[in-house]
Amino acid sequence: MKTAIRKQMSIHPKVMDMLNNQIALEMHASASYLAMASWCDQRELLNSKAFFYKQAEEEREHGMKIFNFVNDAGGAAISPSIPLVNNDFESLREVYEKTLDQEIHVTHSIHKCFSLARSLNDFASEVFLQWFVSEQVEEEDVVRGILDTFDLMGDMPLKMIDERLPKE
Ligand SMILES: [Fe+2]
Ligand SMILES: [Fe+2]
Repeated sequence: MKTAIRKQMSIHPKVMDMLNNQIALEMHASASYLAMASWCDQRELLNSKAFFYKQAEEEREHGMKIFNFVNDAGGAAISPSIPLVNNDFESLREVYEKTLDQEIHVTHSIHKCFSLARSLNDFASEVFLQWFVSEQVEEEDVVRGILDTFDLMGDMPLKMIDERLPKE
């Protein structure tokens, strides 16, 4: 009878493993943005600090969204261990460049989850992941826009560049 009270797993086990990996990636992104927020906070870069604190929150929400989905689908969500994040940056530009690299990495990983779900006819996961596909397009676009601002501002002092970055 034990199996009768257990929820039926409605996602493919291979997809579940990849989703658990994605949870770890989102939580790592959250920790990494928190480090960037702190770096900006220490330098009174007000717009950037607000941006990265918000990003840190959002990435945690992404991780939790997947976490809850895995458990709701009858799987087993794993609380990830977070590897050490970089807290040291050369410049504000580098912070945003690293942000774009990270977002591109996350996008690739989401695409892998999505195509695996599709290839295994795991419709529940495919539909669930659609939101993340669109979210990544938006996130990459925001960061690319900020990096364009750096190109336009050239050698302007850090604080002046920060003041010209789009407010969230
Ligand atoms: Fe995310
Ligand atoms: Fe993101």
